[in-house]
Amino acid sequence: MALERTFVMVKPDGVERRLVGEIIGRFERRGLRLVGMRLLQPDRALAERHYATHKGKPFYEPLVDFIISGPVVAMCWEGTQAVSLVRKMMGALKPEEALPGTIRGDFTTEVRTNLVHGSDAVETAQAEIALWLGNDLLP
Ligand code: RTP
Ligand code: MG
Repeated sequence: MALERTFVMVKPDGVERRLVGEIIGRFERRGLRLVGMRLLQPDRALAERHYATHKGKPFYEPLVDFIISGPVVAMCWEGTQAVSLVRKMMGALKPEEALPGTIRGDFTTEVRTNLVHGSDAVETAQAEIALWLGNDLLP
């Protein structure tokens, strides 16, 4: 079982709804270790780099507009198989598939305002950690 680092972001709706502590608390109670964190309002260039794989899709422009609409909390979490563990704790993208007990399943009903982002693979995690938090946090 590999020790991994993953990138997690509380999106602007999570900060606005005062759910940062709730979200951090869930990862801490699970046993993941917080190794980096930054509160910032991303500019458009950063948001576009982060979501570059979605460029051209119908939801891309509104997604970028949403991510830059307010402060976000960018974090790096470490733990055994942290990448997939965080994704499971976040819950599915489609609100009707996000199970109760997950962050999205407990607090969201919409696909855009879905509170959290988590890296979807180890390689993606490394790129996202470097982009948002710098190379010093790479495993
Ligand atoms: P994320 O990247 O935010 O962790 O979420 P995800 O992997 O579960 O979903 P992904 O497919 O990567 O989509 C990124 C974000 O784009 C928004 N989205 N809207 N059909 C839609 O309107 C739509 N599809 C995706 C969501 O905010 C999603 O988190
Ligand atoms: Mg994704």
